Amino acid sequence: MYVCICNALTDQQVTEVITAGECDAHAVHPCLGCTTRCGKCLSTIAEMMGRHQQASDPDLALAAE
Ligand code: FES
Repeated sequence: MYVCICNALTDQQVTEVITAGECDAHAVHPCLGCTTRCGKCLSTIAEMMGRHQQASDPDLALAAE
């Protein structure tokens, strides 16, 4: 699935950047060799980062329940 239409970035590419430790949505595009254009994808990328953080930190997952 495409997350960023402007740069044709897929959820898999974005997930790889997040898994590598990036935690700033604005830094994802440069990590993938492109730049943010319209910015509509930033909220989706931030949501993906939040889900990754919850999944990797059980205490956060419990606090969210
Ligand atoms: S959809 Fe990502 S910059 Fe436009």
